[in-house]
Amino acid sequence: MTTSATEETLALSQAAQDLLFREARTANTFTAEPVGDEQLRAIYELVKWAPTAMNIQPLRLVAVRSPEARERLVAHMAEGNKAKTASAPLTLIVTADADFHEHLPTTFPHKPDAREQMAANPGRERMAFFNATIQLGYLIVGIRAAGLAAGPMVGYDAEGVKKEFLGDGNQQVVAVVNVGRPGPDAWFARNPRLEYEQVVTEI
Ligand SMILES: Cc1cc2nc3c(=O)[nH]c(=O)nc-3n(C[C@H](O)[C@H](O)[C@H](O)COP(=O)(O)O)c2cc1C
Repeated sequence: MTTSATEETLALSQAAQDLLFREARTANTFTAEPVGDEQLRAIYELVKWAPTAMNIQPLRLVAVRSPEARERLVAHMAEGNKAKTASAPLTLIVTADADFHEHLPTTFPHKPDAREQMAANPGRERMAFFNATIQLGYLIVGIRAAGLAAGPMVGYDAEGVKKEFLGDGNQQVVAVVNVGRPGPDAWFARNPRLEYEQVVTEI
């Protein structure tokens, strides 16, 4: 299928396809333009509709904005991620809450024993991480829908970030995502993607 045939097959407008996918890039530098609370809230209002198993919604976000908090975060980032994290107007620490089951009476009300069942489930932490990762994918698309660029990273000392920002809670760090308007030289070279035939097997 050619690109233009792909574009015409989809329900989303071509401009939206470009904004969310084809022209969306991973940003490595940012301008100083702030990302406001209302923008972050608008992004979450889209992202919250992401599907998760049993509607568990384990995603939790720590919004890092102040220079002091940013400095504490940068200290735990891998060398190659320090400068970009220092330059972003907003950085999100994306975490998975293994105590998601406490919300199940509200979020999965048609199964009244869900909370107790999950409380006893030894796979809860893995389930939280997996489903928060799905929500992370939606978060990246949500940031793009706001006309902003995302810079997701997993290069950091996860234990250090956890200790510094999450205390003794039952949350694991899934990723750290810089958010803002792309600055000068924001992009690395665009790398090729696998083709349909390399990915999809018909049986
Ligand atoms: C989960 C995840 C973790 C990543 N970790 C890092 C990282 O630690 N440092 C970094 O410079 N880029 C990181 N990246 C950026 C990827 O290399 C980049 O998104 C990918 O090469 C696609 O780039 P493009 O969007 O410009 O095509 C990460 C991306 C994702 C989705």
